[in-house]
Amino acid sequence: MLLPRARIARRVRQLGRQISRDFQGESVLLVGVLKGACIFLADLSREIALNATFDFLAAASYGQSNETSGQVRLVKDLDSSIEGRNVILVEDILDTGVTLNYLVRLLRERHPKALRVAALLDKADRRIQPIEADYVGFRIPNHFVVGYGLDYAERYRNLRDICVLRMGKGGPEFASA
Ligand code: IMP
Ligand code: MG
Repeated sequence: MLLPRARIARRVRQLGRQISRDFQGESVLLVGVLKGACIFLADLSREIALNATFDFLAAASYGQSNETSGQVRLVKDLDSSIEGRNVILVEDILDTGVTLNYLVRLLRERHPKALRVAALLDKADRRIQPIEADYVGFRIPNHFVVGYGLDYAERYRNLRDICVLRMGKGGPEFASA
């Protein structure tokens, strides 16, 4: 286990307070990146004391596996316009930066009033494209993690804690540390 649920909850509460202060008196549109960010968005949104609406998009990198191929495409676009809105792009994890870099550029072209990025996790050592999130939950070392929305081959998203996945001979196993 890397991040137990109580620690995640405390940090998400802090991020929510910070966002509430930063956008005081305004409304925000939380844009979740499917599917990994949905649990983080659900919890974060309830810690934000502002008028908030939700939208979602989905991106995929070309090719499979855990590795980002460097090419991203939009699989599901937003339902509505973000022009003039305060947009907070909500991501589960910032890894190489390829996905967020693509999404931030795409959304910026649509002229939001403000565009911020909230990433629950940040593996800064892995960055190949220069991008930083405005709100970061935890900086973590370069481990493959699952739980709290994060998956391995679509599994483990519903774990309450964030755990490191260790690959054993018989497939993935949970590491105890
Ligand atoms: P990036 O484009 O390399 O920054 O990749 C970001 C995406 O890769 C995330 O939205 C996740 O879907 C996936 N990803 C990166 N690292 C992990 C991890 O440790 N566990 C699960 N998914 C990950
Ligand atoms: Mg993801």
